[in-house]
Amino acid sequence: MEKKYYIQTFGCQMNVHDSEQIAVLLREAGYECAGDAQQADLIILNTCSIREKAAQKVYSQLGRFSAIKRRNPRLIIGVGGCLAQQWGGKFLKKAPCLNLVFGTNNIHRLPELINTVETTSLPVVETALHGASSRSIGIRALPQNGQVSAYVTIMQGCNNFCSYCVVPYLRGPEESRKLEDIISEIACLASHGIKEVTLLGQNVNSYGNTVSNGTDFVGLLKKIAEVDSIERIRFTTSHPKDLSPSLVRSFTEIDKLCEHIHLPVQSGSDRMLKAMNRGYTKKDYLEKVTQLRDICPDVSITSDIIVGFPGETDDDFQETIDLVEKIKFDSLFSFKYSEREGTAAAKLNHRVSEPAKAERLRIIQFLQEKHTLEKNKAMAGRVVDVLVEGRSKSSSREAMGRTRTNKIVNFKGGLELIGKITPLVITEGYQHSLHGELQLKKEID
Ligand code: 5AD
Ligand code: SF4
Repeated sequence: MEKKYYIQTFGCQMNVHDSEQIAVLLREAGYECAGDAQQADLIILNTCSIREKAAQKVYSQLGRFSAIKRRNPRLIIGVGGCLAQQWGGKFLKKAPCLNLVFGTNNIHRLPELINTVETTSLPVVETALHGASSRSIGIRALPQNGQVSAYVTIMQGCNNFCSYCVVPYLRGPEESRKLEDIISEIACLASHGIKEVTLLGQNVNSYGNTVSNGTDFVGLLKKIAEVDSIERIRFTTSHPKDLSPSLVRSFTEIDKLCEHIHLPVQSGSDRMLKAMNRGYTKKDYLEKVTQLRDICPDVSITSDIIVGFPGETDDDFQETIDLVEKIKFDSLFSFKYSEREGTAAAKLNHRVSEPAKAERLRIIQFLQEKHTLEKNKAMAGRVVDVLVEGRSKSSSREAMGRTRTNKIVNFKGGLELIGKITPLVITEGYQHSLHGELQLKKEID
């Protein structure tokens, strides 16, 4: 009987993609996917430590899994990802149920590490950070049946050292993948039915800085656009300081590039942006948004904001509100500042109280909900192309597709449309999605 694995993923798209790679390796090693954790012989938690809340979720889940292990002592439990990278061997003391701790750049060694646990019955820790990432990112999950969209890692690590952020310490220095490797991976995905790729990196705009093939990010986008049967290209995340005029122009020059940019601003206060080491001012950011909207009026702009960074006053917060009011993002992820050990900001005084952070978060989220709803409602009556992805999550009788601007549209339509780009007329805009109807060919002409 084949052994079964269960993977639980915490955190960002990068981790979701890492978990896909872990699953490929485990299947190659003869494991099959367990329906739930109770039936697994191996449980992997792919962890996130960007904020304390993310880390807490991992610890509480580990508590639940250790109860399963008490009933099944042969169960192997492993942790990977950022929290594993951060704690290394110390994780074994925090969570004695663990058999394995592997770091962000050691995924490719997972089968071998599991083998060592099985043969020695001893816990194994592997968190070496340097020089291994390129081997980890080469692992490719072939698309599942019906899958139309896939993540492709184009770079790993980060050199920016924003003062609040733990990522550069846990994912290592920025390292771009070779152009040829990226293109051949995308061509392979295309030959397996993938229509849309999302390029992943902590700061995709600086692609090419660490490889000497003469290509920058825009050059990479143009090459990817040449791959037949890839119809849509997306990317995340962009750093405002590196958003070049040529990348802005790409939104009109490269047809396959979807009109959506995730451009984390973090704060609207120049004092806070400086303390965060972001390398731009509020004015710079507003100018970039103007450039984007001048060249591509329909571009959807989403962002991240941190409230309650050390020293943030009511006036600083007001600057953030002002920026959000001016820009009206399509959607926004907002977070309470969370102190991370080892970062520059952890040494700062003038911490903002928890109630003040909570209140600022509430204000900003309320404002954004209003903007998102307004924008979604304003879509009513427009005809948009969606790439149909599958069944709707809200109704089993409906299908779901995504606009080029990354909005979800539910509509009455058969699943034979999956993988097709289909024009829909938007009938209603809600808080989290749109509703549409199929456009009959006659009506389009
Ligand atoms: N506290 C709160 N939010 C953070 N982020 C990163 N580090 C922290 C932290 N220490 C947020 C930023 C980033 C997003 C991925 O997570 O907004 O853009
Ligand atoms: Fe963290 Fe800044 Fe790098 Fe983003 S750019 S991963 S926020 S250090």
